[in-house]
Amino acid sequence: MSDHAPGGTVEILPVTGLPEFRPGDDVGAALATAAPWIRDGDVLVVTSKIVSKAEGRLVVSPADPDARDALRRRLVEQEAVRVLARRGRTLITENRLGIVQAASGIDGSNVVGDELALLPEDPDVSARRLRDDLRASLGVRVAVVITDTMGRAWRNGQTDNAIGAAGLPVLHGYAGERDGQGNELLVTEVALADELAAAGDLVKGKLGGVPVAVVRGLTVTDDGSTARDLVRPGEDDLFWLGTEEAMARGARAAVPGRRSIRAFTADPVDPAAVRDAVADAVTAPAPHHTRPMRFVELLDPERRTALLDAMERRWRHDLSSDPRTAGSVDARVARGRILRDAPAVVLPFLVPEGEHEYPDARRRGAERTMFTVAAGAAVQAFLVGLSVRGLGSCWIGSTIFAPEEVRSVLDLPESWLPVGAVAIGVPAEPPTPRPNGSIDDVLVKR
Ligand SMILES: Cc1cc2nc3c(=O)[nH]c(=O)nc-3n(C[C@H](O)[C@H](O)[C@H](O)COP(=O)(O)O)c2cc1C
Repeated sequence: MSDHAPGGTVEILPVTGLPEFRPGDDVGAALATAAPWIRDGDVLVVTSKIVSKAEGRLVVSPADPDARDALRRRLVEQEAVRVLARRGRTLITENRLGIVQAASGIDGSNVVGDELALLPEDPDVSARRLRDDLRASLGVRVAVVITDTMGRAWRNGQTDNAIGAAGLPVLHGYAGERDGQGNELLVTEVALADELAAAGDLVKGKLGGVPVAVVRGLTVTDDGSTARDLVRPGEDDLFWLGTEEAMARGARAAVPGRRSIRAFTADPVDPAAVRDAVADAVTAPAPHHTRPMRFVELLDPERRTALLDAMERRWRHDLSSDPRTAGSVDARVARGRILRDAPAVVLPFLVPEGEHEYPDARRRGAERTMFTVAAGAAVQAFLVGLSVRGLGSCWIGSTIFAPEEVRSVLDLPESWLPVGAVAIGVPAEPPTPRPNGSIDDVLVKR
């Protein structure tokens, strides 16, 4: 890099006397006229707005405030490849160059009243052109940084950053170097071009009179890097997704992310997470504005054992009258161990309070189906609620086959109909992603 020698003196000089730029103007020529004192090794820090203007990246906007707003919104979307965050009217976007900024970098400051300025088409190209132009006109070898103002995640206030650069190392990596105490610096990589952009802003300001500053006193050597090298590739960025995107992805992943988990760690289950998942469950749709579900948290281990023993007796009894061998009964019963071993068990019930009464069996049956599917929807919401809180679960149907035993051991009213049991725990392994199956046989069109 730079021999950005610590202790060396750096000057930041404003370039005054530049004209108001219009499309087609030659920024290099104007700079050569206004600052013939530019010399070898200087770094020109150039506000992108003048480059945008000279390159004709201006859009005339209507006087009507609503129409102006609509045009601005259209331009912001046109320049964006993705929206990372949105709050009120503020949109944080990434443009096709990877630059993340409010409103795709479009703004109406320091432009004629009825115009909006877009960022330069390719600020790295603009920077290189300006560098070459000054070489041709003044015979000097300079570096150029084209800047724009950006907000920062986590910090108040904006700073100027490099969106275009030529003739300097935009990054200076300290890897392998040692500090004064002899410690090796492993990760520090200074964004030199951004630091220069911010330094230039100290004399340029935002009021438009001084769009270019010259930073003098650093020795920078062209390493071919450009401002594009300052854009951290998505996959390397811990904060790759904006809030809006992360929330949208999380929301989309919540339902398919639930899998039946049958092996748990010994970790206890956070009761608050179970409670929150029950709160999710009651948001499931239900007929007639009812809440036809109850969740029994099985906290007493003795009750759990008594319940599972009673269910097992019922199950063995049922199986014994089936045409099966005793061996297969044992094997099937052994598969039911999950409810004995799971760190927590919650039993969902259909409580069909609020069912409409009908004189005929057909409609009574339909009403019961309606309430039963609502209870099923609530159980699914419960499972998803657990899963998004990092808890694994498996819905086990066995209580449905032993309703009397369940009610008797748990001391529950006759009207409570078990709709299964949910084994809950911290997954022993991360859930396997759901295979991408076709839904062509499921989504039927008429
Ligand atoms: C009403 C009901 C009863 C179920 N009973 C059992 C069960 O007794 N044992 C079991 O291992 N899984 C049971 N499951 C879970 C299914 O086996 C599981 O949902 C299915 O294999 C799909 O896997 P996934 O949930 O990971 O998508 C039951 C699911 C439902 C909806």
